Amino acid sequence: MFEVFYGFTATPFSRTIPTDKLYRDNDSDELIERLKYVADRQLFAVMAGDSGTGKTTALRRFRDELKDSKYSILYISDSKLTPRGFYKALLEQMGFESSYFRGEAKRQLHREIEVMKGVQGVVPVAIVDEAHLLGREMLEEVRFLLNFKMDSQSPMALIMTGQTELWDKLKLQSYAAIRQRIDIVCGVGHLDRSQSTDYINAHLVFAGCEKDIFTEAAIDDVFKFSGGIPRLINKACTCSLIYGAQNRKTIIDDRMIKLVIERELS
Ligand SMILES: Nc1ncnc2c1ncn2[C@@H]1O[C@H](COP(=O)(O)OP(=O)(O)OP(=O)(O)O)[C@@H](O)[C@H]1O
Ligand SMILES: [Mg+2]
Repeated sequence: MFEVFYGFTATPFSRTIPTDKLYRDNDSDELIERLKYVADRQLFAVMAGDSGTGKTTALRRFRDELKDSKYSILYISDSKLTPRGFYKALLEQMGFESSYFRGEAKRQLHREIEVMKGVQGVVPVAIVDEAHLLGREMLEEVRFLLNFKMDSQSPMALIMTGQTELWDKLKLQSYAAIRQRIDIVCGVGHLDRSQSTDYINAHLVFAGCEKDIFTEAAIDDVFKFSGGIPRLINKACTCSLIYGAQNRKTIIDDRMIKLVIERELS
């Protein structure tokens, strides 16, 4: 186990990192602020970015930072989502059994949201993750979900998240009505070289590590390999830590990174 060799108290570069120990920078702080604004004003936001750039992780942080407040987060991640399944999932997460019929389930959802907001003072925030995988029928339904009281009000905040191709889908003429209703657009980009160093350090700090394990040249190579995508940085760093521990190397240099990338990650 590389954790023992390097004296770590937790596993770095894993997806289990708690949200208060995540790497943060101006971009990610701004993203969270925008999402909070969306929740507060009950807007419709679309958040897109390449695979592994940290969209779902940002949603985890957003959810945790909104905990114990007046918001109720309803999270759905289902590539096969149908309109009926969508209403059913939202209603179930709010603690209700959904009607079998789609039209009735939709009316039921609107009714329960009204009660939730009016009586309990709780604002629902629906998050649909992996939205780039959704079919036409489901994407079109979003429009009707947002159309409430003759389009004069949005019943809830809605955040649709997905990989970059979600934009390509929404750019199609047939989705103009949805596109026009988007209030806030959030892009999640790749980390630059200096952010990648800070990202690696954030994971090492979480692991309780006080020394520099990766040389500057090693980080250069991790950056080249990953293009600044957190999931790929995690992979390169984890594989090189395993290799380093097996070969009893306390410092990981660029030669080791190159070897690991060539042998295990190419
Ligand atoms: N801010 C961060 N701090 C620490 N680790 C992070 C951060 N952002 C992302 N990660 C790491 O990168 C991994 C990939 O992130 P995530 O799953 O959020 O990407 P994604 O954009 O949702 O990808 P996909 O489009 O494939 O679903 C996470 O498991 C996590 O370990
Ligand atoms: Mg994701």
